[in-house]
Amino acid sequence: MRKKIIAGNWKMNMTYEEGQKLTSEIVQMAKDENLDGVTLVLNPPFPHLYVVKKLIGEASNIFVGAQNCSDKESGAYTGEVSAPILASFGVDYVIIGHSERREYFKESNELLATKVKQALAAGLKPIFCCGESLDIREAGTHEPNVKYQLTDSLFDLSAEEISQVVIAYEPIWAIGTGKTATAEQAQEMHSALRRHIASKYGKEVADSISILYGGSMKPSNAAELLSKPDVDGGLIGGASLKSRDFIDIAKSY
Ligand code: PGA
Repeated sequence: MRKKIIAGNWKMNMTYEEGQKLTSEIVQMAKDENLDGVTLVLNPPFPHLYVVKKLIGEASNIFVGAQNCSDKESGAYTGEVSAPILASFGVDYVIIGHSERREYFKESNELLATKVKQALAAGLKPIFCCGESLDIREAGTHEPNVKYQLTDSLFDLSAEEISQVVIAYEPIWAIGTGKTATAEQAQEMHSALRRHIASKYGKEVADSISILYGGSMKPSNAAELLSKPDVDGGLIGGASLKSRDFIDIAKSY
């Protein structure tokens, strides 16, 4: 059985107090509303990680993740945070290759491959993001484009390593735009990606990997997207900043 994962990407939002309030509300609601069957991952900005981890406490289905990590293990890289540092603070997951990092910080497939390796070596689970721009979608080449992102950044991994990776398909045209991919578009891409992984690693490995959808997922469209057989959860931006919305998305399963 694949894990069902609802991950919140807070991006560069939330002060210390706001982050504590949001986390406490999520932890309480998840407990009161019996969300045990769904894995929740909170991905706040770096300074929040330690406190968020503490606030999660004993909740066995809630985890903490970072939004990025360095491609280097340690050393003189001012301003960077390495995977081993994150792991030492009890961080469980790390988002790698979000389209905002690819676009604004010019992160290449090659660099992301190194970051994934760093994360895995430190015992973190990478949430590897991929997705196409509107131009590519309109040209009809989205499938080979996104498959290539996987090939280039992940296909040097061993079967054991790739089994630790969570994939997030996030069409760039749907991120923060209010424009969601239809459930059919999401299913089509997720199933193509799973077949692509199977062609390299076999069906058993491909069937064990959770593939999340991201891009304007909210309580009103989550149930339909999550009903698709290859959509194993969501990576939620805007709607993860409101505890009620985030929990309602997780409850749509
Ligand atoms: P969104 O962001 O839900 O605000 O569209 C998703 C993401 O960027 O991970």
